[in-house]
Amino acid sequence: VMVEKQGFKHFMLKEIYEQPGVVRTCLEKYVDSTWQPGQATSPIRLNLAPELTANLENIQIMACGTSWHASLVGKHLLEQLAGIPTVVQYASEFRYAPSPMTANTLTIGVTQSGETADTLAALETEQQRRSQQPAHLQARLLGITNRPESSLARLVPAIIDTHAGIEIGVAATKTFMAQLMAFYFLAIEVAYQRKTVAPQRLGEIIDGLQQLPAQLEQVLESQERYVETLAHDFVETQDFIYIGRGINFPIALEGALKLKEISYIHAEGYPAGEMKHGPIALLDAKVPVVAIAMPGTVFEKVLSNAQEARARDARLIGVTPMNEQEAKETFDTLLPVPAVDEIISPLLTVVPLQLLSYHIAALRGLDVDQPRNLAKSVTVE
Ligand code: G6P
Repeated sequence: VMVEKQGFKHFMLKEIYEQPGVVRTCLEKYVDSTWQPGQATSPIRLNLAPELTANLENIQIMACGTSWHASLVGKHLLEQLAGIPTVVQYASEFRYAPSPMTANTLTIGVTQSGETADTLAALETEQQRRSQQPAHLQARLLGITNRPESSLARLVPAIIDTHAGIEIGVAATKTFMAQLMAFYFLAIEVAYQRKTVAPQRLGEIIDGLQQLPAQLEQVLESQERYVETLAHDFVETQDFIYIGRGINFPIALEGALKLKEISYIHAEGYPAGEMKHGPIALLDAKVPVVAIAMPGTVFEKVLSNAQEARARDARLIGVTPMNEQEAKETFDTLLPVPAVDEIISPLLTVVPLQLLSYHIAALRGLDVDQPRNLAKSVTVE
């Protein structure tokens, strides 16, 4: 397939802009738009065999890189909505030190390309060691991928196709968004089956997802220019810290990874509550702190962690809703996103971070789509 930049300076920027459309496609493919709470069928249409999710006691997810970050959001959703203990493994670690086998376990391999050697090897290891086991220990494998014709799709009996379209930029953006959508759908489906969440609440979450395409468009439209200007302040910056908590902790990791990958600026993502156990020692006026502070269970906590950073003279950038007074007073700079249900928020908070990385790297004159030392898919160990 010939993919073109369509007037965008880089594929990465084009792909960031494709995200509202990707979310729309995912919703069309996987959500029953006429579903009402109380209806006797699932709101989600993943077409998974019932054996895959029946009597589930554990879930383990194998992935690398950005897919590993999407998996951390997935863990949060699967635990908090579906009530299933879930672990996220680095595929490169699991393959040489597999955790002890647990019963009635669903193993999910997440790989955009479907070709990452470590992820495929981890899944093969799992499949092989379980093949001789009694029924409750047999492997149940599911893949989440953007390439339904990939090696992953041949290895596992079932996949969720993320339908993001080919991604050219090495730094994953729209495929991350689509992986997140897959995890929302899976968690809602399993929560529906297990009745761990009231149908009314599932309806609210689905409504929240339906609002996303328009909200993403709004974030892109309102922030693109602003972030481009803001990026000038950080062209010479050497270190960044990203903090978040709960469902937005993985977004802090992803924001930091995006910056490292394409701008070559050192960046670390931390759960905000861990700052006091080490990383706060790094802070001074030269180290900006990007905090993801969305109203919900950990809002006040993140704000107070951000204030601790301010007390060390760090410049504070907040990804936060526009209308939050305390947040406005806490942050030097705002990257506003719509005030949404906390559980939906990662799908929005990641976008300003993608734009920030993109513009810093572009201003530094770097090869955004082909960063040094990195490959789009790593098919060797
Ligand atoms: C490479 C890419 C990353 C990607 C990772 C996992 O390192 O540069 O952007 O997140 O592989 O790729 P996958 O195709 O397995 O999702």
